[in-house]
Amino acid sequence: MSSHEKIEKSVPLLIVLVLVAISFGTLVELVPMLFSKKLSEPVAGLMPYTALALEGRDIYIREGCNNCHSQMIRPLRAETERYGHYSVAGESVYDHPFLFGSKRTGPDLARVGARYSDDWHRAHMYNPRDVVPKSNMPAFPWLFENGIDGELTPVKMRTLRTLGVPYTDTDITGATSAVSGKKEIDALIVYLQQLGTLIQTRR
Ligand code: HEC
Repeated sequence: MSSHEKIEKSVPLLIVLVLVAISFGTLVELVPMLFSKKLSEPVAGLMPYTALALEGRDIYIREGCNNCHSQMIRPLRAETERYGHYSVAGESVYDHPFLFGSKRTGPDLARVGARYSDDWHRAHMYNPRDVVPKSNMPAFPWLFENGIDGELTPVKMRTLRTLGVPYTDTDITGATSAVSGKKEIDALIVYLQQLGTLIQTRR
């Protein structure tokens, strides 16, 4: 019996060898990435979220926007034609947690920043059907009433700083006053309007 035949006829041996082959492939793909700076280096111009945008991002997470919207444009023609330049790792190095997602009940939002006016977003968040008649996105009217309690904003920023986000002491001490008096909708729109704007290739 040739060795090839032996392998093909022995299921346990075949399983072990398949696992070895797969692990080798995984290592070849993964290990260089662990040492590559490309994935942890911010793209040119990347700044940590402002206090208001950071609060907006937390509201985005609280309301579960990321359950219906991904923030990850794949490098495929159909996606780049629709959404713009594909997402690159350096755009999200200050994101904790990432909001890439994969479920797209609604469109990807990775480059929605500056695509619509603030007024469009206000109308859309208050009642999506007012601007997109067939929309099945829920309305979020309470965001127009709830104010932001800025007491925790500096704490959040300090925590993010321990994770490597380069907030300055001035950013942190000014955070509470930067968000005070704002409504949740203001913060959410500031967050949305900066999404993906560092790489803008859309017409
Ligand atoms: C149940 C799923 C669902 C949830 C939850 C949801 N959306 Fe949507 N969203 C949609 C759908 C569907 C559309 C497309 C129709 C429309 O424009 O209203 C959409 C469209 C949008 C658009 C316009 C995108 C574009 O490129 O035209 C924005 C911006 C948006 N949503 C933001 C949000 C935000 C912010 C939240 C959380 C506060 C949220 N969505 C929650 C389903 C959802």
